[in-house]
Amino acid sequence: MTPLAERVIELELRPPAGFSLPEWAPGAHIDLVLPGDIVRSYSLLGDPTDRAAWRIAVLREVEGRGGSDAIHRMKAGDTVRVRSPRNNFALKLAPSYHFFASGIGITPILPMIDAARGQGIPWRLDYVGRSKAKLAYVPRVSQLPEAHIHFTCPAGRPDIAALLAESDPNAAIYACGSQGFLLGLEAAANAVGRSVQTEWFAPKPGARQAADGAFETFTVRLERSNIEVTVLPGQSIIDACAEAGVTIPASCYEGTCGSCLSTVLEGVPDHRDSFLSPSERKANCLMAACVSKSMSGRLVLDW
Ligand code: FES
Repeated sequence: MTPLAERVIELELRPPAGFSLPEWAPGAHIDLVLPGDIVRSYSLLGDPTDRAAWRIAVLREVEGRGGSDAIHRMKAGDTVRVRSPRNNFALKLAPSYHFFASGIGITPILPMIDAARGQGIPWRLDYVGRSKAKLAYVPRVSQLPEAHIHFTCPAGRPDIAALLAESDPNAAIYACGSQGFLLGLEAAANAVGRSVQTEWFAPKPGARQAADGAFETFTVRLERSNIEVTVLPGQSIIDACAEAGVTIPASCYEGTCGSCLSTVLEGVPDHRDSFLSPSERKANCLMAACVSKSMSGRLVLDW
């Protein structure tokens, strides 16, 4: 456990003797399963091919739900359960990249930068945070000429539109950070006809709202389990399935982590998650079973 900045520590996680860890790709995250079955997701850092250790960085949330606090109270040598890496924020090949991060949102971006550098793809990073004391990995990031660090105290927030204008207009944009930061970036990017791949820590504003015409009560058929369940108003698909004895893996229960991603075989979901891209939503092949509902009276899922 290494302190990185105010309320931020880096953890190195090692498997029990005789085991090796799966490799992962930039943008991947793991779930830590904490005492009381509290599950928290963290982006992986470091070398994706290192099978002897994983690294994550954890910000202790002052008004959080207790997960980050429990991690900060752990001691080196403690045992923690983890789940295998998953990736909802994969880096796709592009002619160049413009990375944006605010605060602890730098964590998935660092391996992306390593990947871009390794492949000789041009990139730029704009990294925003309150002050040097609060921002993790400043010494490392500040050595990179392509990286621009913006301290908002006392300089104020950078002009995101102006930063966007400084990069290659064809660069793929990847961003992770606070809600306000990502909303501002999305608005600035949309205004110039560009799209942003984002990873959200919390649900997007309005994401959980029901679409017009969404069914309050609907049935879900679990094809492989050969079970049909009724999802009642106020109930999640995950809970309805659990009552019928089928466990859909889940972590955040708020539509941000992707653990509960389910393949839709029939029916039209009412997407209420914060991570599927507009084209994935339109395709209606995948849905987040923790928050999403249904636009059809019946959904068939591949469980
Ligand atoms: S449990 Fe995290 S998106 Fe559903």
